[in-house]
Amino acid sequence: MPHDKDRATLRSREWFGGSDINGFIHRSWMKNQGVPDRMFDGRPVIGICNTFSDLTPCNAHFRELADHVKNGVLEAGGFPVEFPAMSLGETIIRPTSMLYRNLVSMEVEESIRANPLDGVVLLCGCDKTTPSLLMGAASCDLPTIVVSGGPMLNGRWQGRAVGSGTSLFEMSEEVRAGRIGECEFRAAEAAMARSAGHCNTMGTASTMACMAEALGLTLPGNAAIPAVDARRRLLARESGHRAVALVGADVRMSRIVTRASFDNAIKVNAAIGGSTNAVLHLLALAGRLEIDLGLDDFDRVARNVPLLVDLMPAGKFLMEDFHAAGGLPVVVKELGDLLDGDAPTVNGRTLRENTADAVAWDREVIRTVDEPLLPDARIAVLRGNLAPSGALVKPAAASPHLLRHTGPALVFDGMDDFRARVDDPALPVDADTVLILRHAGPRGFPGMPEVGNLPLPRKLLEAGVRDMVRISDARMSGTAFGTVVLHVAPEAAAGGPLAAVRDGDLVALDVAAGTLNLLVDAEVIERRLTAATPPNPPTTGYASLYVEHVLQADRGADFDFLVGRRGAAVHGDNH
Ligand code: FES
Ligand code: MG
Repeated sequence: MPHDKDRATLRSREWFGGSDINGFIHRSWMKNQGVPDRMFDGRPVIGICNTFSDLTPCNAHFRELADHVKNGVLEAGGFPVEFPAMSLGETIIRPTSMLYRNLVSMEVEESIRANPLDGVVLLCGCDKTTPSLLMGAASCDLPTIVVSGGPMLNGRWQGRAVGSGTSLFEMSEEVRAGRIGECEFRAAEAAMARSAGHCNTMGTASTMACMAEALGLTLPGNAAIPAVDARRRLLARESGHRAVALVGADVRMSRIVTRASFDNAIKVNAAIGGSTNAVLHLLALAGRLEIDLGLDDFDRVARNVPLLVDLMPAGKFLMEDFHAAGGLPVVVKELGDLLDGDAPTVNGRTLRENTADAVAWDREVIRTVDEPLLPDARIAVLRGNLAPSGALVKPAAASPHLLRHTGPALVFDGMDDFRARVDDPALPVDADTVLILRHAGPRGFPGMPEVGNLPLPRKLLEAGVRDMVRISDARMSGTAFGTVVLHVAPEAAAGGPLAAVRDGDLVALDVAAGTLNLLVDAEVIERRLTAATPPNPPTTGYASLYVEHVLQADRGADFDFLVGRRGAAVHGDNH
């Protein structure tokens, strides 16, 4: 394998190349794993960051996946070493995996820098594992390639497709409305999650896999291949092989991911009907790479990008269908000149070159630009006196009749308050009410949970209401749907105007105009904010570090002290 980069200059030589006591120590203990002396001859050391955990079912097949990556690294003449990172599973971690995204990014960054790695392969699956690994690796900026775990196979239940999250949200509302029994509900559990892999809808995990591919950080086709498909294994092996070449050519992450790549990713996110969470994660990643990207760019850059992919939650199909239809390369090809096709990717070719031969096998699943599902599928950014630093809404997952709506507020102070009152028959609520949830933002919760798609009050469900305007400083699952305004910044706990809303105040949402306003006099809002008492923040442990340093949603909710690209240089040795 040709190496442009002189082997002697690889950073792993600082560990394994020495002939003093430290060189001895660095090699000797590695040999207890059966690593022969020839592996220390200056070949690239490729770290494989594995987010395997039994408690992250989406990533539970990663031990096997890592073996395929290792084989690829070995085959290309590299030295593979696997290392763990705290695994963030959406379904089990409490109070919310988002509380730990930055923590894991810090762990990954420090693990890469502290160890003799020349390049990294990131094994990403469940929602937060992709952004946290990308953010950590970005701050080190070594040659980096992403291998996604892949989605679960399509769920089937009672003769119909059931998608992770999306169908669950629907079914649980049916249970609350008394239309589905508990036994039936339980029987759907294994039917929805019927194989290894992450959510099979276009939720945050699939979205982030698409973002990694659109940013150029994966081999073509990575995003959609099902977890258990043979082609996932082949891709893992190819990626390990490719990682060695990336080190040889010294292609660091910052050479692949530029501002143009982010614009591509933002447009692709619109075309796939991707998750609102991608906004937070891309903003945070751009911050790590020191690339200037702001919340308004999501609205501006993706304006008039059509919705091409008919997947839940915005549509009806699932990831297995998306893969069979040709996957993300077809979407990229279809978007054509809307994207910057000259953007580089990790296989050494441009985005355009990688997708030139892509074939659409199912035009129901992936539409053409001329016959899209929606002409403008961007995530809309809202501003106004209720969200001075911005908020967002995903029109593709909302009800068209509610995109312009004025209604009286009904305010809940956190989820405990909401759960205690939502099904009260005396709740003063009708279909025009605007449900407000506050103190569920980055600082207020803390951790910004996925609760923004508030369940509807039972009495309205029973009356046939299926959507209402809901506004919060929280997030929502990428698999969720509804007219849900999210990420309001600043959040109530940071002194944002959500804290000033009272029951009955009129709230005006106008998505086309990009506005979100509280129809109350400015002086009254000011007076109420001065009198507001935010809940006490945690004062010890990790949560106190989190509330002290977390940035607001419009900055990606990263920690202030983690923004930036610090590189991988390390000084001093341990003996
Ligand atoms: Fe892991 Fe959805 S729960 S991807
Ligand atoms: Mg999710």
